[in-house]
Amino acid sequence: MTATMLAAPILLTHDLLTGAEWNPPQTRELLHLAADIKAHPGRYASILRGKFIALIFEKPSLRTRVTFEVGIQSMGGSVIFLDHTQARLGERECISDVARNLERWVHGIVARVYEQRVLEELAAHTEIPVINALSDKYHPCQALADFMTIEEKAGSLRGFKLAYVGDGNNVCNSLIFLAARLGVHLRIATPGAYEPAREVLQEAKRVARETRAKIELFTDPREAVDGAQGVYTDAWTSMGFEAEGDVRENVFRAYQVNAELMSLAAPEALFLHCLPAHRSHEVTSEVLDGPQSVVLDQSENRMYVQKAILHTLFS
Ligand code: CP
Ligand code: NVA
Repeated sequence: MTATMLAAPILLTHDLLTGAEWNPPQTRELLHLAADIKAHPGRYASILRGKFIALIFEKPSLRTRVTFEVGIQSMGGSVIFLDHTQARLGERECISDVARNLERWVHGIVARVYEQRVLEELAAHTEIPVINALSDKYHPCQALADFMTIEEKAGSLRGFKLAYVGDGNNVCNSLIFLAARLGVHLRIATPGAYEPAREVLQEAKRVARETRAKIELFTDPREAVDGAQGVYTDAWTSMGFEAEGDVRENVFRAYQVNAELMSLAAPEALFLHCLPAHRSHEVTSEVLDGPQSVVLDQSENRMYVQKAILHTLFS
């Protein structure tokens, strides 16, 4: 470690499976580390020297794959990409055997899976760190990058009023866990049957008592967005839910983020989206490409939070 490099936060777990592994100070420290890596990438250029990391993807990806590959290689590590988009993990041999083989060769696993239980099973059968690169339930790397972006733009996260509009999905669950840890005021508007997971809300509310974060649920998007400093949306139909696509188009129609909805937010409120975006569905091009949109900063920051995660889990 060079004299000027920041030390990684000390953790009790060596996996990142949900985003709830870290307590509020550790989460803050991780964002601080990500900002330092962004400002001084050269100081962290050898952190992963000699380390091999397997990337297992059951679903397509642009941002997650590229930011992990570039991030790992720019810290001196090597990547082995295992394309599982044609055959799911566990089909050719059981997941525990995959995990126990991989740990004989590589130092860590980054996995994008259909089912959260696959990540849990990988982690249960190996000593090496496992990182969630998106599951049906969570997308922690995304939410960390989102809050890093908000902090850069707004200066502070404490009490920041963020509206999430649309499906109570993996991205929404992770925003809830992280908002609770970072003292954010999160206002979520979903149709009744598409609320975020109950156990996620319960855990977040426990943490929120310590951080004074606020997590509120609405069904009316206008109510959630009223006076918000940031407005976030995501796909109405996530990967793996394509069979419900037509039903979802109808259910979510009133949840589109357009200029009219944005006009209810605070002046110059940020617009956020994890991408990929579906133009004219959950968001109009006018908003996505407009001056309030920070979606490309979110994408860029994926790399820095992931480098901070790797530094934390692998050093
Ligand atoms: N936001 C995100 O995870 O993008 P990809 O699906 O392209 O990786
Ligand atoms: N909720 C979306 C996020 C894509 C990055 C999905 O799971 O498809």
